[in-house]
Amino acid sequence: MFSYQHRYHAGAFADVHKHLVLVALIKALQKKPTPFAVLDLLAGEGLYDIQSKESQKTGEFKQGFSKILAVEHAPTLIQNYIDIIAAYNPTDNKHIYPGSPGFAVKCLRDNDQLLCVEAHPQAITQLKKHFRRHPQVHIHERDAYEALKALIPFKEKRGLILIDPSYEVKTEYKDIAKALKSAFDRFAQGTYAVWYPILPENHHQQLLQGIQRSELTKVWYCEWTPLKKAPEKGLQASGMVIVNMPFQVDRELKDTFAWLNKHVYKQGVFKEGWI
Ligand SMILES: C[S@@+](CC[C@H](N)C(=O)[O-])C[C@H]1O[C@@H](n2cnc3c(N)ncnc32)[C@H](O)[C@@H]1O
Repeated sequence: MFSYQHRYHAGAFADVHKHLVLVALIKALQKKPTPFAVLDLLAGEGLYDIQSKESQKTGEFKQGFSKILAVEHAPTLIQNYIDIIAAYNPTDNKHIYPGSPGFAVKCLRDNDQLLCVEAHPQAITQLKKHFRRHPQVHIHERDAYEALKALIPFKEKRGLILIDPSYEVKTEYKDIAKALKSAFDRFAQGTYAVWYPILPENHHQQLLQGIQRSELTKVWYCEWTPLKKAPEKGLQASGMVIVNMPFQVDRELKDTFAWLNKHVYKQGVFKEGWI
């Protein structure tokens, strides 16, 4: 069974990257009135308390969402992100950080649906506790890659699939490229967003090369290195690939991260392009 627990990393800069992309993609889906579904394939706990001993131990949130909460005159996407966090924190003490299901659920309209998949015993218990009673959230306790085969195409015929693996199994980088192509072949209308870590070992190249070989077209990637001095070991930067990028969202993300780099992180780098 898996040992990864996202509560050590909740709200870190990789979450800021991933969740800004997530909100931008769901907002783009809202531009059409027809309902959509979001499949959060590796959902985690859904909400995190950064006062927990695990979050406090790493303190990673200090280089992530904590730096952003106080900004003023931010671009719309950053303001949307801050407003969602504020909705979970009615008092000034902003200690609840929403995971991807927490962000996604706040972006649903009345007829949209959120499907969450998780298999870790602790994470699924928390996820159910947080969202089981929400009528638009459907929680599946099962293997994510089996669920990907079973849950798409959506009956809504439109939507987003977020794939945010913990990469505990080293073959996952290659396997995800294959799973992505196979999912796309069954549901070509969907938008797919895959997160990947950029580590000193550069394992993520296996994912990117696998996607290149898969003949998927219209794949956009972005990699964010916000910190001047990345740790020698561990996460250097955060990456995402998007299949079927909605019109102009790449532009919005480029502008948003340029703003963050200039006004918050001072020396961050945002790299993007088409694979
Ligand atoms: C990076 S975390 C998810 C974080 C979450 N997406 C967020 O942004 O808040 C990855 C999650 O996937 C779960 N996981 C890993 N492999 C899985 C699998 N094969 N099936 C289901 N869940 C899995 C882990 O337990 C972990 O909670």
